[in-house]
Amino acid sequence: MALHLVDHPVIRERLTRIRSVDSGTAEFREALHDVSRLLCFEVTRDLETSPILVTTPLGETAGHRLARPVVLVPILRAGLGLLRGFSELLGEASVGTIGLSRDEETLAPHRYHFRMPPDLAEAEVILIDPMLATGGSASDAVDELKAAGAHRLRFACLIAAPEGVSAFTARHPEVPIYTAALDQCLDERAYIVPGLGDAGDRYFGT
Ligand code: PRP
Ligand code: URA
Repeated sequence: MALHLVDHPVIRERLTRIRSVDSGTAEFREALHDVSRLLCFEVTRDLETSPILVTTPLGETAGHRLARPVVLVPILRAGLGLLRGFSELLGEASVGTIGLSRDEETLAPHRYHFRMPPDLAEAEVILIDPMLATGGSASDAVDELKAAGAHRLRFACLIAAPEGVSAFTARHPEVPIYTAALDQCLDERAYIVPGLGDAGDRYFGT
């Protein structure tokens, strides 16, 4: 199982602010933004590069470029909270969007939107969503991305529950998960404990 726990002192500090019930919308957003930049650094660590020649003011030398285009795919809504940080490091990346909303009763994800750039089959696709709870949303999103031609996929989140990691890995064993925290469990409403509450509501102030 490819589960990467991304540990960094700044992530630990920002995650504490994100979790805190005392943090307001602005502090939550800024801290999530900071974590997403650091997460992106780790998520992209093993992307392949191709050699190129670069001309400096003093001559030519060997350089590198990313071997494939990158497509960032936030799961709406809360995934948008990670997009700014990922886009800052990957300014050239295209963005696809998947709208999924978890049914409060059945916990099944309901899809309401799917829009992708054309180069999905060639691309490194990075699916982003702060929360991996039951794993239903992320697993369905990967199903849709695979059906649309994606085959180089990785998933980045902020907080994962063990139940979500198991469910996601059972359905998509080849897709690595990057997370800043692996929490204890889900509660009876399938919220992550201790978690941060409802990521979308906290990010959008709803
Ligand atoms: C949250 C979160 C994930 C999903 C995780 O979204 O952003 O997409 O729940 O839960 P799961 O692993 O059990 O599927 P939500 O459905 O609340 O929608 P929102 O982002 O629009 O608030
Ligand atoms: N979605 C959230 O926003 N938070 C959780 O803890 C679980 C699902």
